Amino acid sequence: MAGPSLGRVDEPLVDPHGRTVRDLRISVTDRCNLRCSYCMPEEGMRWLPREDLLSFEELERVARVCIERFGFTGLRLTGGEPTLRAHLPVLVDRLARLGDGSHDLALTTNGTTLGLLVDDLAAAGLRRVTISLDTLRPDRFVALARRDRLDQVLEGVDAALAAGLRPVKLNVVVVRGVNDDEIIDLARFGRERGATVRFIEWMPLDGGHTWGADRVVPSAEVLAAIGAVWPLEALPRGSAPAARWRYADGAGEVGVVGSVTEPFCSSCDRIRLSAEGMLRACLFAHREADLRAVLRAGGGDDAVADALRAEVGTKWAGHAIGNVSFLQPDRAMSQIGG
Ligand code: 5AD
Ligand code: SF4
Repeated sequence: MAGPSLGRVDEPLVDPHGRTVRDLRISVTDRCNLRCSYCMPEEGMRWLPREDLLSFEELERVARVCIERFGFTGLRLTGGEPTLRAHLPVLVDRLARLGDGSHDLALTTNGTTLGLLVDDLAAAGLRRVTISLDTLRPDRFVALARRDRLDQVLEGVDAALAAGLRPVKLNVVVVRGVNDDEIIDLARFGRERGATVRFIEWMPLDGGHTWGADRVVPSAEVLAAIGAVWPLEALPRGSAPAARWRYADGAGEVGVVGSVTEPFCSSCDRIRLSAEGMLRACLFAHREADLRAVLRAGGGDDAVADALRAEVGTKWAGHAIGNVSFLQPDRAMSQIGG
């Protein structure tokens, strides 16, 4: 029998609930140049020391096993703010070459540095970007992100569109009393620019522990508000967390991510790797596997594959944010990787 060829799928990674895991989210740094209040406290974030981060070689090893052995179809780079990691285009180039190169390679970013970096990232093989954009008002941006960077983010959106990355998605975390009065303005901005806006329910994953159920704006409410201005038609959903809708007048798409009120756990196909190499089967998991220890103990691809298999074996059927038994994990979104 011939040896394994590039891109051949030896073994799909199926979890105990029958879901096939095909998507690896890689946090490349826990640092950020913003302090969005729904994500981080204003002061007191402690960053990982540089030597604790997985190296590009280590990240490439893990991604290679996922793609070439387990047939993953997607990789997404996240943070913190992933573009703060030095030489990110070098990593993108290495990840784009894995397997037969047919996998999706995406980046979630706050957009502040894209004006400078997006051409290099696109040239290195990045396919798509998702940019966080929670407000279009400069004063509100400063209040929300605690830094004065809205202009750079908007430049970043334009740069991503100009670089030809498609689709450009814009993530809006909607928080009651903070930006829920901007839903229509943000939707209009997406329509005008040709970007897909996705309105996300705020999840209890903030480092500041200020989340409250009463500040979650249900996706159904967002859709009703948008649909009253521009009629919407449902699109098929697939494994994407966003419920997708198209504007009936042909002006593109809009999505809602109802993580809290309409969990999409039953179609979840992802696993996460934190910047220091901890593998997590769910954003809300309380356990993690130390993949860095495996890598630094000299473990080969088989050892990496075993660790992945074992962690996928712990995937829950679903989170239970609404239950009294729900416990917010110790780690914040910025430390896990969105
Ligand atoms: N709830 C929902 N979304 C969040 N994000 C960061 N923290 C939270 C949270 N607690 C978003 C960011 C980014 C994406 C990775 O996740 O705005 O768009
Ligand atoms: Fe940084 Fe993103 Fe968290 Fe905002 S949401 S503080 S941009 S990691």
